[in-house]
Amino acid sequence: MKGMKVLKNSNVDKFSDHSLILRHYANDLDSQLLNTVNHVAEQSAFRNMQTPSGRFIRAAMTNCGKYGWISDKSGYRYDKTDPKTNKSWPEMPEVFKTLAKRAANDAGYNNFESNACLINRYTEKIGMSLHQDKDENDFTHPIVSVSLGVSIIFLFGGLTRKEKVMAKELKHGDVVVWGGPDRLRFHGVRPLKRGVHPLVGAARINLTLRRAS
Ligand code: SIN
Ligand code: FE2
Repeated sequence: MKGMKVLKNSNVDKFSDHSLILRHYANDLDSQLLNTVNHVAEQSAFRNMQTPSGRFIRAAMTNCGKYGWISDKSGYRYDKTDPKTNKSWPEMPEVFKTLAKRAANDAGYNNFESNACLINRYTEKIGMSLHQDKDENDFTHPIVSVSLGVSIIFLFGGLTRKEKVMAKELKHGDVVVWGGPDRLRFHGVRPLKRGVHPLVGAARINLTLRRAS
């Protein structure tokens, strides 16, 4: 695994050997990203998916790109079709793809070509418990995660549930990149605190860009 390139910049919080937060990295694109999220959601609406055990995932989700991450009673997986519309997911917007590639590159992961973007929407008291992203075919590709709206506490653990968990505040425009030996680390977010962001309102939007297949 290569080392990371961007280490000296004061806007970089390198919180582990193969993981970093690019602070405010997406701020200049925020309106464009949010308009794009709305456009995606007009085609494939946010919904609360069900886990195999029948519980509902509290964050509302939708996807764009060739593959979308879905969960239902038969399991977690990627699918080219939105089960709600029976159509393909909305196309990967150029602005998402380019941002993810640039962020990955700045973090030392060259030529990251994302083909799946999971969009999560959190409102007050909604979080996500610790989990691993492991439904992708190839873990050599990093994960790029873009935060918009109300700040949240991101939790980053180890490769097992028992290891110590780090807590990092993610603000509007922050981009997290993790990969290499960190790729399968447990992570999640604490329940969203009450707050209002001028562009997003009382919510947080997270874009997770991955190469699914
Ligand atoms: C996720 O792991 O799917 C989302 C994490 C986040 O919302 O920052
Ligand atoms: Fe995740």
